[in-house]
Amino acid sequence: MKIALASDHGGFALKEAIKAHLTDRGYEVLDLGTHSEESVDYPKYGQACGEAVISGQADRGIVCCGTGIGISIAANKVKGIRAAVVTNEFMAEMTKRHNDANIIALGGRVLETEYALKLVDIWLDTEFEGGRHQRRVNMLNEM
Ligand code: RB5
Repeated sequence: MKIALASDHGGFALKEAIKAHLTDRGYEVLDLGTHSEESVDYPKYGQACGEAVISGQADRGIVCCGTGIGISIAANKVKGIRAAVVTNEFMAEMTKRHNDANIIALGGRVLETEYALKLVDIWLDTEFEGGRHQRRVNMLNEM
């Protein structure tokens, strides 16, 4: 499975930690930047990650900014993207089980790195439940 990663400067350090972690876990990673802590505009990176997932260049994506919020808003502008800001273990699990989130958004200024990696693992290792949730995901996809 290939995971697209993107961040702004506020999420750069966390993105780098996630990249190392995913590589250790045997995932292929598509790093869409940014590549330093120099200030950049998060909309561009959220959009790039969304487009990589929708085009099939990557199977799923993880975006990081200071809070996870701005870059998630950008990713969600791409039709078919269900990007979820995740701040705890329950959210990481449920956004896969019920929303089949194809991107999660994490805040580099919100989460401790080790905890963020745990959230990534929970999201990746949880299965989508389908059933009535598939109907709701279909409704989202049609918007
Ligand atoms: C950048 O300073 C900050 O606004 C950004 O990383 C993010 O938190 C926006 O939602």
